[in-house]
Amino acid sequence: MNGLAVIGGSGLIELAGLRIVRRDTVDTPWGRPSAPLCHGLLEGIAITFLARHGVPHAIPPHRVNYRANIWALHQAGIGRIVAVAAVGGIRSGLDSGAVVVPDQIVDYTWGRAHTFFEDDLEHVTHVDFTSPYCAQLRAGLLEAARRAGIDAADGGTYAATQGPRLESAAEIDRLERDGCDLVGMTGMPEAALARELGMSYAHCAVVSNRAAGRSAEALTMDVIRSNLASGVAGVQRLLCEFVSGG
Ligand code: HPA
Repeated sequence: MNGLAVIGGSGLIELAGLRIVRRDTVDTPWGRPSAPLCHGLLEGIAITFLARHGVPHAIPPHRVNYRANIWALHQAGIGRIVAVAAVGGIRSGLDSGAVVVPDQIVDYTWGRAHTFFEDDLEHVTHVDFTSPYCAQLRAGLLEAARRAGIDAADGGTYAATQGPRLESAAEIDRLERDGCDLVGMTGMPEAALARELGMSYAHCAVVSNRAAGRSAEALTMDVIRSNLASGVAGVQRLLCEFVSGG
């Protein structure tokens, strides 16, 4: 149960350098995952890749079947997940292209199927989520970033918002008052579901834009997409370093 998976978000629907050996279309008790599981070799190391928003990129953040995605990976023998996600930068200095390995989460999502512990339980279960990310995976990612020559920010609080719309400037002010440094739409319930199944999980976040009200730049999909492209190229290098070194 120690296989490694990468969940790719916006800007990362495939992993450069991954030599795909098998594509598995699987089912789970929670329904179908977003896409087939792509099992392959990255730098000669076996990993599994899953495109969070589907292929093509068409499933919005609030419609991702997070339970099916995490269950399918667990069922495939995965024990460690590196989740790549596009985010808006709230804290000053988190500009487009920056890479962040956050260490905390605040969940503002609602109405998402967010737990495996719902029906037919023998007893009520509460998982410890004090430290939502795996410290060892985080350290491995930061070390890989260093080797790849990427100045990744160590730590930060990830605000998970509902989407699919971006936030208002006042909402971002509120997130900042809450202590959040970056904002994205897919970090939850993904991280909590991985924890419920005892899997290690860490985020590799790429800043695609300054969050709403934090820059004069228009927040259009074109701007976000083009900013993301260069950050994601760095993350692909980081992931190669991560698998070969870790
Ligand atoms: N807000 C929420 N999610 C995001 C953003 C943002 O500004 N940028 C990329 N994902």
